[in-house]
Amino acid sequence: MIQTIVTAHYEEMSQLAADQVAAFLIKKTNAVLGLATGGTPLGMYDRLIQMYHQGKVDFSHVTTFNLDEYIGLSKDHPQSYAYYMWHHLFSHVNVHQENVHIPPGVFEKQEQVQRDYEQAIERAGGIDLQILGIGENGHIGFNEPGMDLEVATHVVPLTEKTIQANARFFTSIDEVPRRAVTLGMGKIMQAKHILLLASGKEKARAIAQTVNGHIDPRIPSSFLQLHPHVTMIIDKEAAQEL
Ligand code: GLP
Repeated sequence: MIQTIVTAHYEEMSQLAADQVAAFLIKKTNAVLGLATGGTPLGMYDRLIQMYHQGKVDFSHVTTFNLDEYIGLSKDHPQSYAYYMWHHLFSHVNVHQENVHIPPGVFEKQEQVQRDYEQAIERAGGIDLQILGIGENGHIGFNEPGMDLEVATHVVPLTEKTIQANARFFTSIDEVPRRAVTLGMGKIMQAKHILLLASGKEKARAIAQTVNGHIDPRIPSSFLQLHPHVTMIIDKEAAQEL
């Protein structure tokens, strides 16, 4: 079931999302959060940092797992998702470093990385609240559209559309990594609650297909229709094709 909340603009979306995460952490102080990167959740992270400074939210017992990472970027690379997370959230709140998990972008044995990440999530008891953004093509994490979808954490070639969309964070499109490691559909769908955020008209088509379309691996987000607890907080531009 997808509950949809349409907000007036990005700021309202971000505030509402932060309020929901904070309310969740007040109820479950040792929650396991699944976290997303990209432009969309930045406003929510900002507000969570403010709420932390106001004493309204505490991360000291929280465990986090990020959805994905670019292959080939070390965690100090400014465009890596590890750098993003420390820069935009973790360094500003009281989360313990040992409770933070981000798939490595540089590794020797791919299978081991994939297995270790899945096992770490299982040991933590699974994800309580998964934050998701959405690609213009309906990707979630880096589960790209295709004829089939992978259940487990895996390495994925990025589609041309995703490379183009993410080029805005790099000095040139050639610098965008061509592959990523991502949580598969399995652990995303096993999260107890999912909070999907979207803003802007570029996401309108994907949002409409997520909610109203058939369940189709060519629109990975459409599988969220099968999840019992999805809340979608979107601004009115992203809602314009609903
Ligand atoms: C990226 C990330 C996703 C993110 C999506 C949307 O490629 N892998 O996790 O949700 O694209 O990004 P943005 O929020 O910048 O539009």
